[in-house]
This record gives sequence, C-alpha cells and structure tokens, in this order.
Amino acid sequence: MQAIAWQISLVLMAFVAFGFAFVAIRSGRREDDYAPLQKRAYRLRTRLFWVVVLAFGPAMIYTLFELPYGASRASPGSGPAQVVEATGHQWRWELSRDRVAAGQPVEFRVTSADVNHSFGIYDADLRLVAQTQAMPGYTNTLRHTFGEEGTYRILCMEYCGLAHHNMLAEIHVGGE
Ligand code: CUA
Repeated sequence: MQAIAWQISLVLMAFVAFGFAFVAIRSGRREDDYAPLQKRAYRLRTRLFWVVVLAFGPAMIYTLFELPYGASRASPGSGPAQVVEATGHQWRWELSRDRVAAGQPVEFRVTSADVNHSFGIYDADLRLVAQTQAMPGYTNTLRHTFGEEGTYRILCMEYCGLAHHNMLAEIHVGGE
C-alpha cells in the first residue's frame, strides 16, 4: 500500500517538475498577440472547472451520505461494553481498570484533567489499533473490540509538554 502511494507520488512529482521545466524553457519566448493565448487559457479553465464539479461533486455527496459516522462502525461489536474511564494528566494516564476481555466490546471514555492529549492504543508490535482525543471538559467515547489477547500500550500521540513521552500505560487483554 505504501509502495503504491509512493509510486503515485513520484508520478505526480514528475508531472510538477515537468510543468516547471516547460514554463522555464518557454519563458524566454515573447508572444506579440496575447488574445488567442488568453482564449485558450479561459477555455482550459472552463473545462477544468467542469471536471472538478463532475468529479468532486458526486464524491462529496457520496461521503455526506455516510454521515454521521457511527462510533460502532469503526470498531465492530455492539451490546454491553466493558467500560474503561481514561483520564490524561501531564504526564500520565489514569485508567479505571487495566484488564479487559478479548472478543467483547470495550468502551473507553476518554477525557483530560489539564491540556489536550491524544489517546492511542497500540498492540504488541506497536501498531496503532484505535485512537481518540483526550480533551479537558469533554469526554470522547471510543469503542473497540480487541480481537487478540495480549498486552496493549496506551501512548499519548499529541505533544503536551516536557514529559509527553512518559505518558504510557498498559492494558491487558485476556480471554474469558
Ligand atoms: Cu499527553 Cu502528549
């Protein structure tokens, strides 16, 4: 996936570079009569406008139909959840419990006692599995069902001061 994104980026960068080179090479030439050139540019602009309208209009409407993005859509599993209250402090996490069961939804209620933090849950390979903001005066609900047992780590993902890197906690996911 990353390789494909990189290849597409390379192609687009080549296009941009080509555009710059084209303009640079042509910039020496003087055009005496600008009218035809202007006409061509306007025509191109009109065409570009319609391309944008026809391509992005439906795309925008399509994504609007998905609203509101349900919290349960992002993480499968419904029904009664195991609730974990999580509060961010400079610089630690306070969790109401650090043991949950695998295969059953967990509801994290995330807030902050001081500044903005970001609550990121990582698996044993340090791959991000779920994330939400920890904001003062507000509680974000994050539902996640852990598919695999093990020890997960909670890391702060937003720079929140000197010891930001110390904001780690562990959550143990077991079978039941
Ligand atoms: Cu809390 Cu970074």
